[in-house]
Amino acid sequence: MSNNSEDLIKLAKEVRKNSFAPYSKFMVGSAVITKEGKTYAGCNVESASYGLTVCAERVAIWKAISEGERDLAEIVVVADTEQLTPPCGVCRQIIWEFCGDVPVTLANLHGDVETVTMRELLPRAFDTKFLK
Ligand code: THU
Repeated sequence: MSNNSEDLIKLAKEVRKNSFAPYSKFMVGSAVITKEGKTYAGCNVESASYGLTVCAERVAIWKAISEGERDLAEIVVVADTEQLTPPCGVCRQIIWEFCGDVPVTLANLHGDVETVTMRELLPRAFDTKFLK
């Protein structure tokens, strides 16, 4: 857990309350911090056409990227589960591409926290370097 994790967890818990999850009822919050210390938060937003749902992690990252940020330093995921909820496979790919091998802090509503690295979550990742 970095110095920033606590603030990011607070932000992710707060934005989780905005989760639009009428189908799964599974509310998730996420927050990212840039290398300069700016934060962006996002919740999951579901669609009636279930597959169009966007996870909280991607909403947080897209918010940062669309504001012109490129250097993301850490991401936090908060859900109300006993076993800490990790990013799904799609989000792992996106986190890797837009954040690289950053710390990923997982937290729940009972104060359990664990930090892992993106490399642990997505070993041998495919990314832009293969396209050159
Ligand atoms: N979800 C996230 O937002 N992030 C995760 O890390 C896991 C899953 C969302 C997607 C969907 O709205 C709901 O949780 C159930 O899968």
